[in-house]
Amino acid sequence: MDVIEAIESRRSVRAFLPKPVDRDTLDAILEAASRSPSWANSQPWEVFVATGGTLERIREGYGEMYAKKAPAAPETPFPTAWTESAKKRQQQLYPDMVRDCGDIGEQFGALNQALFNAPVVVYVCMDKMLSEWSLYDIGAYSQSLLLAALEKGLGGIQAITLTLYPNVLRRELGIPDNLKITIGIALGYPDRDNRINNFVSARSPLSETARILG
Ligand SMILES: Cc1cc2nc3c(=O)[nH]c(=O)nc-3n(C[C@H](O)[C@H](O)[C@H](O)COP(=O)(O)O)c2cc1C
Repeated sequence: MDVIEAIESRRSVRAFLPKPVDRDTLDAILEAASRSPSWANSQPWEVFVATGGTLERIREGYGEMYAKKAPAAPETPFPTAWTESAKKRQQQLYPDMVRDCGDIGEQFGALNQALFNAPVVVYVCMDKMLSEWSLYDIGAYSQSLLLAALEKGLGGIQAITLTLYPNVLRRELGIPDNLKITIGIALGYPDRDNRINNFVSARSPLSETARILG
């Protein structure tokens, strides 16, 4: 797969087959992601990979939190402000999903709550003392990880819903206090029969997002 093809064909996968990902594949993806650029090669990412029984315990813990309607407390907080153009694009997301997948409203929430039934979730953390430049590096790392996963026949999704209950994650993954849980990335083999995976998100035209000056 060439690079442009990989970038253009990557899309968020929200339903996975119950098929485990073997350790060599996981190592190869993490090795590739570690080649991401970072400020002065600081490599701020510290990852905790949940699989097997560990991930099942996280899923159960999340189930209990949802059942008692515990307030979500992601350590990278929900955004509070958006530009008008960003709001407009977000408002288009759900109608576009309905166009591609039918009305999957309930399933969308249920799959998010079930951690997409993924066999692997990579939690990307960084030290709390670091600046937003390190968060920038984590973004690059996340995209590299997803592209490497694609090359290996896997799909994935970055999701804030994976990080809603840090108390569960810290308990099950032993994440130390000095680290902030920035994002979770679910990985696995896409369930092609689930229509939620039919969604192809839109992009604004270059004329809206790029200014090329001579
Ligand atoms: C930081 C971040 C957080 C996200 N959180 C969620 C989430 O909690 N649930 C979800 O279903 N999708 C989530 N997404 C996926 C976005 O909705 C998706 O990337 C966007 O709609 C573009 O679609 P594509 O990834 O298929 O190109 C998140 C994406 C990013 C980058």
